[in-house]
Amino acid sequence: MNISLNEGLTINKDSWDAAAERFFGRTALPVYGPHSPSEEELNLFGDITGKRALEIGCGSGHSIMYMLEQGVEEIWGLDLSTVQIQTAQKVCGYNEKVKLLESSMEQDPGIPHCYFDYVYSIYALGWTLDLKKTLHNIHSYLRPGGTFIFSWEHPIHSRVILDNEIIRFNASYNEEKPALHEAWKPRPAVFFHRKISTYINELIEVGFIIEKVLEEVKIDRETKNENSWYSSIKAELYPATFIIKCKKI
Ligand SMILES: C[S@@+](CC[C@H](N)C(=O)[O-])C[C@H]1O[C@@H](n2cnc3c(N)ncnc32)[C@H](O)[C@@H]1O
Repeated sequence: MNISLNEGLTINKDSWDAAAERFFGRTALPVYGPHSPSEEELNLFGDITGKRALEIGCGSGHSIMYMLEQGVEEIWGLDLSTVQIQTAQKVCGYNEKVKLLESSMEQDPGIPHCYFDYVYSIYALGWTLDLKKTLHNIHSYLRPGGTFIFSWEHPIHSRVILDNEIIRFNASYNEEKPALHEAWKPRPAVFFHRKISTYINELIEVGFIIEKVLEEVKIDRETKNENSWYSSIKAELYPATFIIKCKKI
């Protein structure tokens, strides 16, 4: 699929404005993602009392609320979708510690550089249509010594499907390119499949030191619908979620 960054972002903004309600409070800290251990088990952030944090793709603002409960001093949230930012504003209420920005992660909307102790992203970073630019932005927002943590759908999970108890590939794991997902509801969206090594190598290239790559699976037995995208049958075989923690030096 040949598509410019601006065309892709326009499609995805429209799609997320329409899908926002479906994702209210879904995949927010302490949860990192389906069939994954949580922040309560992993403690990747450590003590955040008095720290400054920025969330990339903050969605409905529920992770921001979690960070406030944990004692963060100042927290910014950025999201492409107008509806998500409006929702996050309602969820967070008036709070002088919170600043919300409507922007794509591929652009820098004037966020201070070398400022944040933490930048994090929970199931949102993989939406970027330009990983290099996005990671470059994130790196510039962090102070030296600052931490970047993100979770995203494991790329093997998005390539393999369960079809009448038969596991098969829906596309090649090796092919890295954007594609229009017609079945994404209620309006199509542009997805960019990338390999795990691409995330790791782009992080290294932008200057991060990788501290942890997690593919641990913790089966969520509550997921009753075994035909669902995140069925536990699939999670028994391969991870649904991966998490990376890295540091700016
Ligand atoms: C699965 S949701 C993240 C949910 C979030 N963790 C929460 O607590 O609600 C993904 C979010 O990424 C946002 N998003 C998608 N593409 C984006 C982009 N290019 N730049 C910034 N945000 C984007 C969507 O609007 C959506 O809110």
